Amino acid sequence: MRTHQLVGLTVSVAITALGSLAHATDPALQAKMGEPLHGLTAVQLDRFQIGRTLFSLPIPIEDGLGPILNKSNCGSCHSNPIGGWGAISVTRFGMEKKGVFSLYPGETQSLGQSLANSTFCLEIIPADATVVKTRLTNSSMAFGLVEAIPDAQLAAHEDALDIDGDGVSGRVHWVRPLEAAPTSPLRAGRFGWKAQVATVLTFSSDASRNEMGFTNRLSPIENPPNGDFARLTICDEVTDPEDSNDAEGFAFIDRVTHFQRFLAPPPQTPRSGMTGEALFNQVGCVKCHSSSFTTASDAALEDAIRGKTIRPYSDFLLHDVGLLADGISDGAATEAEMRTPTLWGVRTRDPMLHDGSAAGGSFTARVMLAISKHGPFGEGAASAAAFAALSASNRAHVVSFLNSLGRAEFDFDGDGLIDILDFMALRVCIAKGATNPDNQCAIADVNQDGVVNATDVDLFVLAFGGDTLDCNGNQVADLRDIALGTSQDANDDGVPDECSACPADVSSDGTVNGVDLSILLANWGGTGMGDVNNDGNVNGADLAAVLAAWGPCQ
Ligand code: HEC
Ligand code: HEC
Repeated sequence: MRTHQLVGLTVSVAITALGSLAHATDPALQAKMGEPLHGLTAVQLDRFQIGRTLFSLPIPIEDGLGPILNKSNCGSCHSNPIGGWGAISVTRFGMEKKGVFSLYPGETQSLGQSLANSTFCLEIIPADATVVKTRLTNSSMAFGLVEAIPDAQLAAHEDALDIDGDGVSGRVHWVRPLEAAPTSPLRAGRFGWKAQVATVLTFSSDASRNEMGFTNRLSPIENPPNGDFARLTICDEVTDPEDSNDAEGFAFIDRVTHFQRFLAPPPQTPRSGMTGEALFNQVGCVKCHSSSFTTASDAALEDAIRGKTIRPYSDFLLHDVGLLADGISDGAATEAEMRTPTLWGVRTRDPMLHDGSAAGGSFTARVMLAISKHGPFGEGAASAAAFAALSASNRAHVVSFLNSLGRAEFDFDGDGLIDILDFMALRVCIAKGATNPDNQCAIADVNQDGVVNATDVDLFVLAFGGDTLDCNGNQVADLRDIALGTSQDANDDGVPDECSACPADVSSDGTVNGVDLSILLANWGGTGMGDVNNDGNVNGADLAAVLAAWGPCQ
């Protein structure tokens, strides 16, 4: 019953943290990575938040963590953002004979557990295991939407025998969810690197037991270290199953399932029309990284999930990945097969690929490496070769398109925040006028009408969270005043000059001093910060203004 208390306690913590989501869910803007779906009810939003809190809350040993485990909570691996992918890998091991994988003798699974509550129970990867591989933390994000893709739509993408002869086949991995009756029909797997799981609840149950040693109603039996049940009996002090229902009737695995199901798809900015996407289709990436599905119209689904068109850039099918293969089979998935990962959000992914072998460096370098690894002997070979044969500028177009996957509207510098630097870029784009999806300014042309204008400014104000700031009292948001020229903002701090006591304080630190002087000199002859008198030029007149105002702002 301790778990019950744990869950009950966190529920109250979580509810107090809800306010911050209010503007994040504004339907006019795409949700950012890690935010909830648009259109959730208040009750569903509560469940999202409670589940999110539990997802990253370490489970205490006395409540059932271990005896063998990899981490104490889901969020320590699924950390970028919470619920997403992460840089932590787990180890899979076993035996290989003539290319056929088998579990290490006596083992019950291929997943290794690197930690234990006591050294006596620590699982050791046997020195004579012939297969030892790492597997990176992945995440489809928007789990509820992905779960709701009808099996038939996934099956429609199959071409198991490669009838069309294009070298790309793809198979559904048919599996049975843990929560389904033993005689129920199989479902199309879609989660995990081997598409070995069809539902979020099954994955949550499996991960609770296998990554954290937290047994639950669907995975009630503890995982024995190196398959040794005698050792397990000595170390396992908490009665199984360790998960139990809270006052609302939900267990831990239900709570984290709520959170994951209600996660929004990552944003894509611009939403369409990039030359790189046409090239992505042309060289055949889209044959596996499929761009569109519609979720089921099933009445039992939540409004926010039912009948939605989504663009995950994955077919969720198994493909032969040639030399990239890990040599580990899982159910019907062979040693050579991997499931196509989603590419929505790929700009935030580091490392990439199941073994994390495309890591570090620039996004361009990472993605080019990942693409080249589709090559030798896999189903992706033709597509990787077609990509390599593109001109350098067309390859750059494809990379730009991939870089739009996961980018929030207005996030010019890609730091995940909509801040004053993005505002400066917005102003430059307003001044430029016309734009198109391949232009940087498309990041701010949210309504995609080919020009960054007042409509986009209103959305920017919303995204910035600055809609209530109106220091000059003219009933118009200050940022709108500045962006559309009603107010000047000489020091580019987002505060209209008429409200700012001290326009020469370029750095906004309350004093006109050497910091301001050096910013001014750095921009000398240009525009932007340091243009104290706002005449479009950083020059002697601005220098004079700074020197005249030298000292603390009044
Ligand atoms: C030690 C790191 C680690 C922890 C802890 C962990 N996971 Fe994972 N998770 C992974 C890895 C690695 C994969 C890929 C698994 C595979 O396919 O082999 C994964 C895959 C998943 C997937 C499938 C993602 C997809 O799109 O295919 C889900 C869902 C998931 N985990 C949920 C959870 C939940 C819920 C918890 C907590 C109960 C959890 N995980 C704890 C590492 C972790
Ligand atoms: C035959 C199916 C197929 C084709 C065609 C294909 N991919 Fe992939 N892609 C995959 C699979 C499967 C993986 C995962 C491989 C692994 O990790 O073992 C992957 C991984 C990736 C990754 C890394 C994503 C991550 O999260 O780790 C990127 C990026 C990527 N593909 C881009 C592309 C691009 C761009 C093209 C076209 C030039 C392309 N792919 C063509 C199946 C395909």
